[in-house]
Amino acid sequence: MRLDKFVCKSTELTRSDAVHRIHVGDVLVNGHVVTLEATQVHENNEVLLNGIKLKARSFRYIVMHKPAGTICSNIDEAYPSLFNYLNVDKVSELHIAGRLDADTTGMVLITDDGRWSFNIITPAKECKKVYRVGLSQAIAEGMADRFKEGIKLQGEQQLTRPATLEVVDSKEVILTITEGKFHQVKRMFSAVGNRVISLHREAIGDVKLDVEVGQWRYLTDSEVQSFSK
Ligand code: URA
Repeated sequence: MRLDKFVCKSTELTRSDAVHRIHVGDVLVNGHVVTLEATQVHENNEVLLNGIKLKARSFRYIVMHKPAGTICSNIDEAYPSLFNYLNVDKVSELHIAGRLDADTTGMVLITDDGRWSFNIITPAKECKKVYRVGLSQAIAEGMADRFKEGIKLQGEQQLTRPATLEVVDSKEVILTITEGKFHQVKRMFSAVGNRVISLHREAIGDVKLDVEVGQWRYLTDSEVQSFSK
């Protein structure tokens, strides 16, 4: 982790205050003054600020139920930010592991641990995202096979990765995908001549959404670990 981030995570200082304290020589790493804020530090390094040993706060891992009409951004734009529902400190340090569109509801994972969220987002880890999808037209025959084989999205060279489609009723399906291209679910159905009219994410990996709309909770340790396999 960068030294300025470490100082922020272990104090109440803002990033610019932390950088200032580093520049003026208030910060020692393993007994040496370090004035470069981009210096990498590790858990076993001893970092002192004016002689006081710093201990970085642990990372935060949150599951939230996103309401419709909110955006997965740290600031309000055309719609209010989802983060308005999150009454925790240093919200600006948090990010969402796999954004949802403004009109999509359901599960979002929020963290300040970039390595952890990478495991969720990268297609290489094949982390499952489960969506309940409402469609404008009845699902056509043979769609489960087409989604399994991969769909050619407009503007993309490669087919989508194999996806699992379960029919709930003629206009409602459960779709499980392991990647997260821009508007992926809507584009997959558009590519087969249908249209998504409602979209709700029910689960990511082994974690199922179990909080009410607009509510959130911290993940348990085992839930956190389940994404690091
Ligand atoms: N796919 C979409 O099209 N939209 C979302 O919000 C999530 C997945």
